[in-house]
Amino acid sequence: MTDTALDGIAAAYHENGWVVLKEGIGEQVLRDLRASVRRISAMEREEVVCEKDSDVVRALHGCHRFDQVCAALVRHPRLVGLAEQLIGDRVYVYQFKVNVKNPQVGQRWPWHQDFAFWSIEDGMPEPHAVNIAINLDEVHELNGPLTVLTGSHRLGIIRAADQPERAAGGDWHEHVSADLTHSVPAERAAELAANHRPAQLLGPAGTISAFHPNLVHWSSDNRSDDRRTVLFVTYNSVRNAPRNVTRPAFLVDRDTTPVTPALSV
Ligand code: SIN
Ligand code: MN
Repeated sequence: MTDTALDGIAAAYHENGWVVLKEGIGEQVLRDLRASVRRISAMEREEVVCEKDSDVVRALHGCHRFDQVCAALVRHPRLVGLAEQLIGDRVYVYQFKVNVKNPQVGQRWPWHQDFAFWSIEDGMPEPHAVNIAINLDEVHELNGPLTVLTGSHRLGIIRAADQPERAAGGDWHEHVSADLTHSVPAERAAELAANHRPAQLLGPAGTISAFHPNLVHWSSDNRSDDRRTVLFVTYNSVRNAPRNVTRPAFLVDRDTTPVTPALSV
């Protein structure tokens, strides 16, 4: 990607809090990732989380720590270059997850801001991080796309007047389930939507998007016949490591070594 293209992406990101890139991830990388997700989904391990009261896989966590394809992905020069540009610093991998959202049964992610979790649960000092999302399936209007409120990243952490600050230390399963601990009430999100245009992050498999830690977002249940798998890598500034991490390492990576982009992928 040229410097000019990256500048345009960064300008859109800072203005809106999100950006969908024109150029996706390569075909071979996409094929390899899909194969890894299939393989990992069949494993019985803590990193594989199921939908509530079900054995349907909801998400895979921390796969870059044990799967070679995922480990290579987080060093992909395009992802690392993008993260460094958007954050303005060297970065490390704070979190890695794949949200599978299976046809008919994949459940929602209520309205929330990621930085609420990272600051309250882990003690991340500032929202100097970025989510980079890669669609592993086509994401369309009906299979539970991520919906964001444009510009809401400038509002800071939102708390409804009648909602006391939630303390840290709950069950981590409630940070990755359809009943999220630190959510934005749906009525509050509806009010915000009047001034912060809702946008769906859509695109064919391979599409790359980025969104800000404070951006208000949700995604609905998947009632369609199409799976909606999206992979998320969260890069954090090397100078913004969280101070109070108690959650499992597959949710919050303790390795803050700056990522070195791979020479070839
Ligand atoms: C997230 O908010 O972390 C994920 C939402 C989604 O997969 O739709
Ligand atoms: Mn989120």
